[in-house]
Amino acid sequence: MSFSRFAAMTSTSMSLPVVNRLRDIGLVKITLFGLLIVAILKFIKSLTARSPYAHLPGPKPSSMLGYLLDMHNPDDVDFHFKMTERHGHVARLKGGIVGSDGLYISDPLALHTILVRNQGIFRESTEFSGLFGVIHHGDGLASVWGHEHKKQRQLMNPVFTAAHVSKLSPLFHRIATELRDRLAAEIKAAPGATIDILDRLTRTALELISQGGIGHTFNSFDKNSKEFVEFHEALKDVLPAASQLFFLLPFLESWRKIEPMWFRRGIANMAYFVPWSALRTFKKSVDTMHPVCAQVFHEKKAAFDEGGIAALANTASGGRDLTTLLMQANVDADEEDRMADEIVIANMSSIVLGGQETTSGAMSRLLDLMTLTPSLQEWLREEIVEALAKKNGEPLDFYELNALPRLDATCREALRLFAPVTFVWRQTMQDTVLPLQFPIKDVHTGKEIREIFVQKGTPVYIGLGATNRSTALWGEDAAEFKPERWMGHHAHESTVEQIKTPGIFSNMMTFLGGGRGCPGMKFALLEIKTVMSVLLPKFHFEKTKDIVDWRLGITLSPYVRGKEAEGPQVPMKVSLIEQKN
Ligand code: HEM
Repeated sequence: MSFSRFAAMTSTSMSLPVVNRLRDIGLVKITLFGLLIVAILKFIKSLTARSPYAHLPGPKPSSMLGYLLDMHNPDDVDFHFKMTERHGHVARLKGGIVGSDGLYISDPLALHTILVRNQGIFRESTEFSGLFGVIHHGDGLASVWGHEHKKQRQLMNPVFTAAHVSKLSPLFHRIATELRDRLAAEIKAAPGATIDILDRLTRTALELISQGGIGHTFNSFDKNSKEFVEFHEALKDVLPAASQLFFLLPFLESWRKIEPMWFRRGIANMAYFVPWSALRTFKKSVDTMHPVCAQVFHEKKAAFDEGGIAALANTASGGRDLTTLLMQANVDADEEDRMADEIVIANMSSIVLGGQETTSGAMSRLLDLMTLTPSLQEWLREEIVEALAKKNGEPLDFYELNALPRLDATCREALRLFAPVTFVWRQTMQDTVLPLQFPIKDVHTGKEIREIFVQKGTPVYIGLGATNRSTALWGEDAAEFKPERWMGHHAHESTVEQIKTPGIFSNMMTFLGGGRGCPGMKFALLEIKTVMSVLLPKFHFEKTKDIVDWRLGITLSPYVRGKEAEGPQVPMKVSLIEQKN
């Protein structure tokens, strides 16, 4: 239809048959048709409008939908890992029908600007703050920003220091020993059987984070523990289910502010009757997680109100868990700095969610690597056995574990090369400029670009895995697993040209950096090292015929090739070392 004819039809001289026809179609259909036209015109406009990032290099989207599908493709981790080598330290992510252009960043100076210098301009996305606000039932760390976030971190950071985390060593050792003894019993009962080590390490990680983080046990090692099964299912399902609800995410931030609460709860409960399994799973997970954290908190609070901090010594952690420390810090804080009860509960929930899958994945990855390289396993075992012998078999504490150079180098290298969280997402709150450490080339003119104008509203993705694998930062062998790159080096010497990134862990981005860097880093490292120091002297780990592929989800998850439908697993042969000698 020509535009002149369209104009003629809409004029008052519209012919009678046309009017009758429109009446026949009905008002609803006309409205829907109108909306469709508007959507098509918007899409055509988005295709023809010039993007402010058209001059930047970047991957070509595999479909009209734009970059989002490629970026979340579970089978293409290389989209992230190879981004820097393929396209440079800043890449344009071309939008499509879903979403406009985004930027993918692994440039150290740009990252410093985003995460440290101008962190107020690059806020975590409304989608994520809304989602975590719903999951944790409140405004914990993951859902707030600016002053409120800073205030919460000021109260929480001291709880995560080496001084406190080191006191968890005996508790972590007890839990790792329980894993060891149960594994040994399993092997004795069925020698030569294949064991899914991911399952055992998932149980271990949940006990470590629940006892050490919130002072509660799920009796995770008990195969019949209903509490473990229910809670773990909720933890494992909540984020994958949420990722299927991606088009609802932009509305969650406004949704969770709707008052009165009974009305919101009533509407939310209707999710159970909607024929959409992802929505039902999400709701069920949220309804399982929150009451546990709330109950643990209220029990602690009642004990605390009655008998002070000493009364909390009877919990699973002996009163050393992070929540108990946080409650103490909260009581000691000035009135205006205190967290309300629901915020403490939301933060308990974010500690458990943030610390469980990341750590169980990291531990399983380490053992998986050791089965692929048996000499690595021997090399580490030798160091641990020697250190234990010096202590007459007494457990190695936080400081002694950190003083083991081979174990430390292996953990660092595995966490560099296989960062459990591949990328994080920020949104640009105002127009700004990002300076670059590594200039890139304009794809049209070939001219060098040393800074990039970033338009308000642009989604910015921080490539944690991509930065950790940049050859400009780590050398030509950046994609290789080489623990020796850490041996005898200080943290500031970790990159080849001693270039600094804002990462809080030896220039790696694994635990992010800046004001939102992972507070649980020391906790996670103690968990991983304690478990390795207890398992390696006792067991030998061997690979099976299965090939394990680590697929992209919210964190990286291991699947056996050809058996993806069975869910994440890391099968291996485990044998007792005494039996071999
Ligand atoms: C290998 C293990 C871990 C990795 C790789 C990891 C990584 C990360 C990353 C990348 C972030 C930033 C997320 C973002 O801003 O979007 C983060 C935040 C966070 N992590 Fe971890 N984490 C690990 C273990 C833990 C543990 C054990 C805990 C608790 C004891 C924990 C608690 C948190 C919390 C509460 C936040 C939110 C911080 C904030 O928003 O201020 N993490 N973590």
